[in-house]
Amino acid sequence: MSDKSPDSGAAAAEAWSRYWASGPLHSCPNAFAGNYDDEIRDFWMSFFGSLPDGASILDIGTGNGAVAFLARDAADALKRRFHIEGIDAAVIHPAAAAARHGIEAGDIVFRGNTSCERTGYPDGHFDAASSQYAIEYSRIDDSLKELARVLKPGGVAGFVIHHAGSEALVTTLAELKAFDYLRREAPLVVASRRLLRRLSGAGSAAELEARMNDRDTQEQQKEIRKLLQRVSAYGRSRPHAGFLEGIATQVAATLQQTRAIGTGAALDRLAVLEGEMTAHRERLRAMVQAGKSRDDIGEFCALAVAAGFAVDAPHELRRGGRDLLGWVVGARRLSNEP
Ligand SMILES: C[S@@+](CC[C@H](N)C(=O)[O-])C[C@H]1O[C@@H](n2cnc3c(N)ncnc32)[C@H](O)[C@@H]1O
Repeated sequence: MSDKSPDSGAAAAEAWSRYWASGPLHSCPNAFAGNYDDEIRDFWMSFFGSLPDGASILDIGTGNGAVAFLARDAADALKRRFHIEGIDAAVIHPAAAAARHGIEAGDIVFRGNTSCERTGYPDGHFDAASSQYAIEYSRIDDSLKELARVLKPGGVAGFVIHHAGSEALVTTLAELKAFDYLRREAPLVVASRRLLRRLSGAGSAAELEARMNDRDTQEQQKEIRKLLQRVSAYGRSRPHAGFLEGIATQVAATLQQTRAIGTGAALDRLAVLEGEMTAHRERLRAMVQAGKSRDDIGEFCALAVAAGFAVDAPHELRRGGRDLLGWVVGARRLSNEP
């Protein structure tokens, strides 16, 4: 289960940093317009609502703080006060994301660049810990041991974990397939970069004009037009591949504007687009790896027991009794006493 290398961790953190900088409150913006709602919110309101006034809570893999904000909602609803901290391995922007959603960041403490395998908190510091679609992205056994260390004896942990059979995972696999098509079978971005590089070798405006109209350029443009059509057609015809149409549109616009903005700026735009695509693909890949089958979730629970938790039987969380949202696991840190 814990096969994450430090390098894959760095690439993933970079990919998530890009995502959180773009401003969302959480990682499921297509499913929930504001903060998490429905059964997910209900679960967390009940979990946090079971904590006494003054409890201290650590939300791991907090992203832009969605679950930390739910913890505060639970406190407000019950007229309690919690001390809430949220950590994430990525660079995060919870205050800006919250403001965009009309939420006050208030006195919640957020720390980016902080992994859940090594939080830096003292032993027995928190009464409760939460993780939503987070611990499964980390080296799980190390993270569970760390959580057991920073929780007080008797402290509780709640986990909502990606389910291998959820709609979110099905969508993710389809998106990865679309990326593979773009990379292997319709290399639009590569072909466009090749053309722009060739044009950028022109020493003068006159030479550029000549190159733009020469035979090689015509041939390359013809090939790119074909690729644009194929990529758009794939995006239109396959489920969850619509984002390929957006990529095709951006590439086409960049090429069209080359005369006006210059080849250097056009290459820069392509590089930005490629950076976004790489980060998106990295997040999708990590999500697929994170999805847990029933056997995997059993293994997760066994690791939690080995780390010093008593664990409730895992159960599936569904929306409206139908769509799978994930696995729910509740755990309690056992006392050190025999
Ligand atoms: C799918 S997002 C979930 C974010 C948030 N909990 C939510 O529900 O919106 C996964 C988050 O886990 C973070 N993450 C992944 N590995 C981590 C690690 N080892 N330590 C801390 N955070 C990690 C990522 O940076 C990312 O922000």
